[in-house]
Amino acid sequence: MSPFRLTRTLPGDAMDAALRADVRQGLTGMPKTLPPKWLYDAHGSELFEKITRLPEYYPSREEGELLRSVAGAIAVVSGAQTLVELGSGAYSDKTRYLLGALPGLHTYVPVDVSASALRQAGQALTVEYPDLNVHAFTADFTSDLPLPDTTPGPRLVVFLGSTIGNLLPAERATFLTSLRSQLSEDDTLLLGTDLVKDEADLIAAYDDPAGVTAAFNKNVLSVINRELGADFDPDAFDHIALWDPDPEREWIEMRLRSRAEQTVKIPALDLTVDFTGGEDLRTEISAKFREDGVRRELAAAGFELRHFFTTEAHTYGLALAAPTALPRRHTWSALLQSPSVRP
Ligand code: SAH
Ligand code: TRP
Repeated sequence: MSPFRLTRTLPGDAMDAALRADVRQGLTGMPKTLPPKWLYDAHGSELFEKITRLPEYYPSREEGELLRSVAGAIAVVSGAQTLVELGSGAYSDKTRYLLGALPGLHTYVPVDVSASALRQAGQALTVEYPDLNVHAFTADFTSDLPLPDTTPGPRLVVFLGSTIGNLLPAERATFLTSLRSQLSEDDTLLLGTDLVKDEADLIAAYDDPAGVTAAFNKNVLSVINRELGADFDPDAFDHIALWDPDPEREWIEMRLRSRAEQTVKIPALDLTVDFTGGEDLRTEISAKFREDGVRRELAAAGFELRHFFTTEAHTYGLALAAPTALPRRHTWSALLQSPSVRP
């Protein structure tokens, strides 16, 4: 069996401290918000897996089919010896198309905030790919992105599931810039981006009649109950999915709406939180993209969009991008000192 290693860049107490800080900040602010990464404990990861199998939730299926058809081309272009996957989840299922297509692959590096997800994926992969090194990292890709520089390049970094759309535009810019700063010019980025489409199709994907998405969204309340001793009653909230068509946003917003006036106690924070009837708690956005916007966001962070693969109906896109040369420091001072530009 191939080696599996799990490196925790986030010690348990750091995660605990981050959860406390996020809950305090998010629930004392106006409007109330919670960052989406806390949706994915073991139960949340299981519920997300169920979402990916719902008929209404097209992104996983479409991304999988698209990736299957273009994995060979991506493998050739990248020539990767190391495959890094951000937010890889409990299955790394779509990733297998790339693992199968990259003949020279030396190491697979799944990165996720959820250690349980990484262990589950890692165990299956080491059996299926006995010659592959699997080195998993628990990390928060919005704050510390530890790309190992000990594995052989070139590297292909993949970020699937349109998880980039769960970040706000400013967070995406910070994330992409930080990622770019850790890459070499022979590395490649593959970014999964769900595309703007009919509102009814979007809403159905985030508010399924079987209630799986509602259960997933409400799971964040159970996480806070368990970790911080809170007394949220998930049944006292409704799952809401709204489409925001503002061209600056174009995102689905997931909320939990308080059914009535209520007070929630969070003993670990020594905090009580009041909700009015009908008050919303925002748990997640899921931005939908257009090719031009993806090109622009990549360019602003130092990437060039090399190819934008889409499904036939242009409903889902995979952006293949290469780092552009970083602007050299001291360019201006060098210019000003050069005789040809002296006044
Ligand atoms: N890539 C898989 C899973 C997508 S779900 C797919 O396409 O099906 C999003 C994944 O990102 C979850 O496994 C979640 O634990 C992880 N995640 C969410 N926020 C994160 C963060 N800030 N840092 C690291 N991982 C995160
Ligand atoms: N990255 C996924 C997406 O934006 C995450 C997701 C799917 C999700 N369904 C959800 C997040 C429901 C919260 C609630 O599509």
